[in-house]
Amino acid sequence: MEALLCRKIGDPTVQISEASPISISVSHPIPELNSPTAIRVKVKATSLNYANYLQILGKYQEKPPLPFIPGSDYSGVVEAVGNKVSKFKIGDRVCSFVGLGSFAEFVVAEEKEMFLVPDGCDLVAAGALPVAFGTSHVALVHRAHLSTGQVLLVLGAAGGVGLSAVQIGKVCGAVVIAVARGSEKVQFLKSMGVDHVVDLSKEGVIESVKEFFKARKLKGVDVLYDPVGGKLTKESMKLLNWGANILIIGFASGEVPVIPANIALVKNWTIHGLYWGSYKINQPGVLEDSVKELLSWLARGLITIHISHTYSLPEANLAFSAIKERKAIGKVMIAFDDHKTVRSKL
Ligand SMILES: NC(=O)c1ccc[n+]([C@@H]2O[C@H](COP(=O)([O-])OP(=O)(O)OC[C@H]3O[C@@H](n4cnc5c(N)ncnc54)[C@H](OP(=O)(O)O)[C@@H]3O)[C@@H](O)[C@H]2O)c1
Repeated sequence: MEALLCRKIGDPTVQISEASPISISVSHPIPELNSPTAIRVKVKATSLNYANYLQILGKYQEKPPLPFIPGSDYSGVVEAVGNKVSKFKIGDRVCSFVGLGSFAEFVVAEEKEMFLVPDGCDLVAAGALPVAFGTSHVALVHRAHLSTGQVLLVLGAAGGVGLSAVQIGKVCGAVVIAVARGSEKVQFLKSMGVDHVVDLSKEGVIESVKEFFKARKLKGVDVLYDPVGGKLTKESMKLLNWGANILIIGFASGEVPVIPANIALVKNWTIHGLYWGSYKINQPGVLEDSVKELLSWLARGLITIHISHTYSLPEANLAFSAIKERKAIGKVMIAFDDHKTVRSKL
């Protein structure tokens, strides 16, 4: 089968060659069903998450031994089932996620880790749902209990997790403020119905949000969703209400922010560190219920998955470039067997 291999740590955006960190193997062994309850999926699409990029750079918290096949969430069609599989059959459309290994034509996983993609939902889009939307759903709904009328501030709002947080915020009935850089991202966020967008290429977050609060007679932010970190976190803290929830999602800026404990005490803030993947080990039920609810929202049209770039596997370096260069609006995908729709938009 065709698979993407990371053979050495380095920049995955460089042209794929004998010497590059990532390369394409065209004769990688197809994974065997390794238990009676295992399922083999012919992958239709797999999404790029910032973590996949960091992992190849050697900057992610989990450092797998080399060589490895990167990739986490994916969608596809069931191609083989173990003799004790009861909930799925060959031909079912499914999506799921793995710790590693979805940048390949086939993935094997246990049936309890698999989700049926509802009829009418686009299969490629479903491959982008588990990590990004799953992270935002667990963060906003399970951890912060975001409710109607609360004010949600989303940093990195046009990125993969950011755009999912924006949409989940709207489903929860929150007043959603989005922070992004550049007119294309800002226009897109406006079209998603956010209540206020801060364009960092033109204005500062504090002044812009304070003006919005004044116009709407709002006091402050109740929930901060932060996949960016650095200076932006520091500035956003000046906008938080008493009793606010801070969701620490990631550090796309490259800088881990400091949140002073004395201010958290005085303002009664709750700071949530959130590592979505670790729910699979510690609270798998939360994760399963969350992905099922998201798929039902997708089927009902409450959320949509915006894919700004789609590539074939041999174009993976271009896909990583879209992430590195901050061009993604929503998700970047690798799609298989769909060469008509696989287009580079870079
Ligand atoms: N905790 C978890 O379980 C979990 C799950 C998924 C993702 N994450 C983390 O969340 C973060 C975002 O992931 P993602 O997949 O949404 O990435 P993404 O699609 O690339 O989005 C990242 C956003 O961050 C903003 N940004 C600000 N400074 C940046 C910089 N120096 N370099 C790149 N982007 C920068 C960009 O927005 P502008 O260009 O508009 O400023 C971009 O849209 C990553 O740190 C990732 O590891 C964590």
